[in-house]
Amino acid sequence: MHVVKTVSIALSLFLAGPAAAAEIEALAAECDSCHGSMGVSAHDDVPTIAGQDATFLSKSLRSYQIWGRPCLKSSYRTGDTARPKTDMCKISSGLSDEDIEALGIYYSEKEFVPASQEFDASRVAAGAALHEANCDTCHKEGGHAAGRGPRLAGQWVPYLKTALKYVPTGEHLVPPMMERAITTFSAEEIDTLMNYYASQQD
Ligand code: HEC
Ligand code: HEC
Repeated sequence: MHVVKTVSIALSLFLAGPAAAAEIEALAAECDSCHGSMGVSAHDDVPTIAGQDATFLSKSLRSYQIWGRPCLKSSYRTGDTARPKTDMCKISSGLSDEDIEALGIYYSEKEFVPASQEFDASRVAAGAALHEANCDTCHKEGGHAAGRGPRLAGQWVPYLKTALKYVPTGEHLVPPMMERAITTFSAEEIDTLMNYYASQQD
């Protein structure tokens, strides 16, 4: 009896492994049809999710599930692009807690590839200084590494700007220290910061 039970547990663990991996691959194929191959986005309004911190990714998906941040309507970029537009709130509502954990780990293990985008070289140094003074505590190593917040360096700037628009309105909840900085900065200062993030292409 005891032996049979042990064998069946071992067998179910063996079966769960590959089946779960295949399920995550199938889900990720869906994500990649907007976020780009292996989570590296080719579209400036869609963030790259490859190489972001696993905890940040899972936390974001849970926020979308409860409308804790705005969900923008988006078309599919590859595959069957005739599918109706959807958004991250709808997408995340279909995910289980296990899927969310597994997707966070899956994308965190992929390589972040900085976006190739334009910037004003004359504003990069000022942007780096603003980052160092106001943002580096949580977006570490000049924004190249996650801290309490995600990597920012090399992320698509149009996406970052859209994300910041919803901070002063309270629609995108961020730590008070970040909210204070963002709400007191002028549009010009935000632009200066963005030129720094865009310039970080390696
Ligand atoms: C139809 C296109 C589309 C699909 C499919 C899609 N996403 Fe998104 N995703 C977006 C867009 C656009 C944004 C940014 C706008 C927003 O926040 O609503 C986003 C934002 C995110 C963010 C926030 C990243 C950040 O830096 O804050 C995460 C995490 C995310 N998506 C994960 C996923 C995962 C995981 C899947 C698959 C289960 C997925 N997405 C499927 C379009 C899509
Ligand atoms: C006290 C910590 C903290 C500080 C300081 C901070 N942030 Fe953040 N930031 C966060 C956290 C946490 C998030 C993720 C919020 C969420 O759950 O969506 C975030 C998210 C962001 C996002 C959205 C990125 C994405 O991929 O979705 C941007 C853009 C951003 N921060 C810019 C800044 C800038 C610019 C500064 C400096 C002026 C700054 N932050 C200072 C903690 C911080």
